[in-house]
Amino acid sequence: MLFSHFILAAALLASDVLATPETVVWFAQAGTAFTDSLMIGNGRLGASVWGGTSSDNIALNEDTLWSGGPYNPIHPGAHAALLTARAQINAQNWTDAEATINANVLGNPSSQTNFQTAGALVITTNHNTVSNYRRQLDTATGLATTSYVFGGVTYTREYLSSAPDNVIAIHINSTASNAVSFTASFSTPQTVTSSSATASTVIVTAGNTAEGVLPSAITFEKRMQVILSGGSSAAAGITGITVSNATSATILISISTSFKNYADGSSQSPSARNTAVFSKIASTAWTSLRSRHIAAYTVLFNRFSIDLGNDAALSALPTDQRVARNMATFDPGLVSLFVNLGRSLLIGSSQSKYTININIEMNYWPAEVTGLSDCVEPLARMMEDVSVTGQSTAQTLWATTNTAKSSGLPPIPADQWRATWPIDAARYGMWPTGGAWELQTLWEHFLFNPSNTTFAKRIYPLFAGSSQFFLETLVPYAGNSSWLVTNPSMSPEKEHPGNAADCSGPTLDNTASPLITTSAFAAQITATRAKLPPFLIGSGGQLQEWLIDWDSTPSAFSHISPLYAVFPGSQIDPLSNATLAKAAAQLLVFRGPGDFGWPIAWRIPVYARLMDANNALNQLKLLLGDLGVYRGLLGKNSVFQIDANLGGAGGIIEMFLQSHNGEIRLLPAVPTILPAGTIKGIRARGGYTVDLTWSNNQLASAVVTATIAGAKTMNVRLKNGPTLVALSLGQGQSRTFTSADFA
Ligand SMILES: *[C@@H]1O[C@H](CO)[C@@H](O)[C@H](O)[C@H]1NC(C)=O
Ligand SMILES: *[C@@H]1O[C@H](CO)[C@@H](O)[C@H](O)[C@H]1NC(C)=O
Ligand SMILES: *[C@@H]1O[C@H](CO)[C@@H](O)[C@H](O)[C@H]1NC(C)=O
Ligand SMILES: *[C@@H]1O[C@H](CO)[C@@H](O)[C@H](O)[C@H]1NC(C)=O
Ligand SMILES: *[C@@H]1O[C@H](CO)[C@@H](O)[C@H](O)[C@H]1NC(C)=O
Ligand SMILES: *[C@@H]1O[C@H](CO)[C@@H](O)[C@H](O)[C@H]1NC(C)=O
Repeated sequence: MLFSHFILAAALLASDVLATPETVVWFAQAGTAFTDSLMIGNGRLGASVWGGTSSDNIALNEDTLWSGGPYNPIHPGAHAALLTARAQINAQNWTDAEATINANVLGNPSSQTNFQTAGALVITTNHNTVSNYRRQLDTATGLATTSYVFGGVTYTREYLSSAPDNVIAIHINSTASNAVSFTASFSTPQTVTSSSATASTVIVTAGNTAEGVLPSAITFEKRMQVILSGGSSAAAGITGITVSNATSATILISISTSFKNYADGSSQSPSARNTAVFSKIASTAWTSLRSRHIAAYTVLFNRFSIDLGNDAALSALPTDQRVARNMATFDPGLVSLFVNLGRSLLIGSSQSKYTININIEMNYWPAEVTGLSDCVEPLARMMEDVSVTGQSTAQTLWATTNTAKSSGLPPIPADQWRATWPIDAARYGMWPTGGAWELQTLWEHFLFNPSNTTFAKRIYPLFAGSSQFFLETLVPYAGNSSWLVTNPSMSPEKEHPGNAADCSGPTLDNTASPLITTSAFAAQITATRAKLPPFLIGSGGQLQEWLIDWDSTPSAFSHISPLYAVFPGSQIDPLSNATLAKAAAQLLVFRGPGDFGWPIAWRIPVYARLMDANNALNQLKLLLGDLGVYRGLLGKNSVFQIDANLGGAGGIIEMFLQSHNGEIRLLPAVPTILPAGTIKGIRARGGYTVDLTWSNNQLASAVVTATIAGAKTMNVRLKNGPTLVALSLGQGQSRTFTSADFA
């Protein structure tokens, strides 16, 4: 199992914005682990707030601080070995094929580089025993706050990571004059090359960590400035500043690296970058930094709102207590809070240690439906990079002749150095379809924003290159030469009865959407697509995961790869082929409920697309309980894994509104335990925004607005009812639907 580290950065805050009750994650105690810290970010700089009173740990991230340096993990002779593995798979010598791939195909090095922490800021005081402690993240403002009483004085710390000012800022004040005293110091796990402190400024420079054979290529500088109201300050050694008897203090932090792009980790000046950040905000007061943050953050956050009703007694509890009780007593307000947290994390987060066989794809599920379409831009840029490095891998490993840039990449590309060679092990890395799945996020962006021809023109070469890759690398299936299949491939991470995961033509790989319909080589693509194997139903009544009926009995697993066709794909739709939908449901039974964060989060939209409200609810309960999340609602695995938060936030919306296969479906999978609610700002494919209200389990109103010129014609359906109402609106026009429209 591969998991995402992640990093944050985004924007925050507001006291002039009234937080609704279900936007605040809060605790009555300080964090004891990263998994119950509070995450803030601006897309570049991230911080995780533990909030201790005598020692406050604020973990720091900068999104280009990765280990190692530029590399291309070519394995000489790998193409010949790939052909050997293909023949071994055709001969059903599965373990031999895995051994061949592991020994002679995997990249050199065979694992990717890692995202690194930029260390921490540690704030120490003598406030050992405090009362009235509270620590919160307001997802409506992106502002984290710690407050407590010590010696009869109330102390408040606010933390933000500002997108407009490109800086992390922490403001500390109290209800008494001259009561703010603390020491703030940087800690740095990497080798420090220089460190200096004055009464107002600390500068620490260090290098990133080497990674195996890859030497350190990046240098970075952390710079802190402290601005006081009253009191005095002095250097604390060479890494910190001690503040005494101030009325308030603001700590500003910028972190910059030497990274320029995936081929150049060292040519920029981190010091010059930090100087530029500080010179722009030199004379800016805390209140201005704060309000600029609120303004920028709320532009994104306020596009969407969700209210599923709540229980006032439950809503008054700290979040950790709500999570602990949710399995026994369903807490609808916690669902809204989880969606709001997911949106806050997406606004704040940037690149990850990407795993491409589900994880990164999930992370963009809330982007379009909850109005954060802009957040897809970093993925688009990454795919533009990997279309270049992937072309090299396609030519060297797969011996493609194409000169078009290829995004039909082996998976696990996309560390910061954009390596695209298969890595880790055959059963994780030998999968040629990862790049295509990643491109689906950009295709979705186009479906939600169909009039953006600039974007369409920008991504067209990526899709053309990916298609070209498959035209050149699909081969006849050994069991039926009429079919064209991927080989070698695997159904992500799932072992089959051959004691291996490698195979040819797994169902997920055969699930190609008709993406390109207008290109010069559309006819060739259409003809090839017609030769992909069809969906097969096995002897257990299940949608087959492989072309061989290997999984006709229960076999629990976290990945449900063939069900891509249900969600996020839409090739299997209960309203167009009930037989296939039933087989998909049977496979879900065989794979079992999700066993931790992201697998549970994936099952929610799959059940919702199958219009199975009760099972969607069952998974939702699991997600928001001890199995799915840590006590502050962060996604649970062996470590915090953000996929559950982001994929979950997007997937939950599928219970309330869907838009695919030419239809907008209202309330498709709403369980009776959520009889009333309002969700505003749900975006639908075709170019629409929907404000949805229901009560007594019935539609009250759905106000559908065309947000663009040239919105596509869609049919609107209520639940799984028979009536379709055609929708065609000009930009800015709205139409209100009620139950009567579907009578
Ligand atoms: C598959 O394994 C069998 C038995 O070991 C062997 O005879 C055969 O040559 C193998 N085929 C390939 C293509 O490696
Ligand atoms: C402390 O700062 C916070 C946030 O900036 C503010 O809301 C609060 O009023 C301040 N408290 C005092 C006593 O100045
Ligand atoms: C801070 O205030 C305390 C109490 O008034 C005083 O004893 C101490 O000397 C002050 N410290 C500094 C550095 O001014
Ligand atoms: C259209 O896409 C381009 C390129 O990705 C982007 O810069 C622009 O903001 C988009 N325009 C709209 C109106 O969304
Ligand atoms: C082989 O593929 C063809 C074309 O899809 C299909 O008609 C035929 O039934 C397949 N044969 C088997 C044995 O699956
Ligand atoms: C449903 O899908 C199955 C399997 O692909 C196919 O045989 C059948 O014809 C489809 N039914 C409809 C109504 O399209």
